[in-house]
Amino acid sequence: MPKRISLTRYLVEQQRMEGHIPSQLRLLLEVVARACKRISQAVNKGALGDVMGSAESENVQGEMQKKLDIIANEVLIEANEWGGHLAAMASEEMEGIYVVPNRYPQGEYLLMFDPLDGSSNIDVNVSIGTIFSVLVKPEGAGVSEQDFLQPGTHQVAAGYCVFGPQTTLVLTVGDGVAVFTLDREQGSFILTDEHLRIPEDSKEFAINMSNQRHWAAPVTRYIDECLQGTDGPRGKDFNMRWVGSMVADVHRILTRGGVFMYPWDKREPEKAGKLRLMYEANPMSWLIEQAGGASTNGKHRIMDITPTKLHERVSVFMGSKNEVERVTRYHSEA
Ligand code: AHG
Ligand code: MN
Ligand code: MN
Repeated sequence: MPKRISLTRYLVEQQRMEGHIPSQLRLLLEVVARACKRISQAVNKGALGDVMGSAESENVQGEMQKKLDIIANEVLIEANEWGGHLAAMASEEMEGIYVVPNRYPQGEYLLMFDPLDGSSNIDVNVSIGTIFSVLVKPEGAGVSEQDFLQPGTHQVAAGYCVFGPQTTLVLTVGDGVAVFTLDREQGSFILTDEHLRIPEDSKEFAINMSNQRHWAAPVTRYIDECLQGTDGPRGKDFNMRWVGSMVADVHRILTRGGVFMYPWDKREPEKAGKLRLMYEANPMSWLIEQAGGASTNGKHRIMDITPTKLHERVSVFMGSKNEVERVTRYHSEA
């Protein structure tokens, strides 16, 4: 790998390579990355800035909002609304879609984001992040929520930025998964891994074990077998990790393998799961698949699901291919 390839150069090269991405998408991704840098700065200020604690408000999902949830949402909107590359945005923190105001030109893309993933980790100084997904607006005048309801296979770009010991941007435009590390002195993202690959097998799982008694039988079976280690049918010991920020858990899995699960459970049986399809599961699924992993809802490939509403939830099993295939098989056998 030649030295010091910036995100800008990577995107220019992606554009030149048989027009892998159009110039408007390149601009959009540059702006999203710039917004991530601003969010990273706010995160880094911690108690020295007015960014910690609750905002004393609820979002559309009935979750208490943290100050940083709202700050990150505003940063992303302000950064992206004027560029002329977007028609509308949608976010975990907004009930409806945000149509680009008339005073700015409208572009052909739709941007979705989880502005701040891992909110419960903000105040305890544990890794958090921003997740995003880009779609093309269907032909036709105006823009509506309906235009967003496309399966994950339609994504043209997806990624996340994790704010941890390092600030790292992980991106796919359908040509593998590229990783960029923020050089704080220079203020730019530098390519540090060009083709991330997830090992097909793994000995590490990530699930919130405190929900164990609420799980469905196939999930219980899979985890039970892992826990039996060398004494059980898997014949090997497993390790467990649960950060509680999907970005951080998925980042670890993209880096060294493993399986991340947030399954449906009996506490709220009418909900398909906790995580949101369009701005959490879909972008992460595409990254995982592009790195050679797999992602299902226990029965089907997540990216094949056609959403019926913006804030739709989904059961999630993603990561090392053989592990995801196994837990998915346990569902079909049940
Ligand atoms: P968000 O902060 O955007 O609401 O997402 C939190 C999600 C996800 O990041 C994480 O994997 C999961 O919730 C953690 O759930 P538990 O609190 O059940 O561990
Ligand atoms: Mn989230
Ligand atoms: Mn969030």
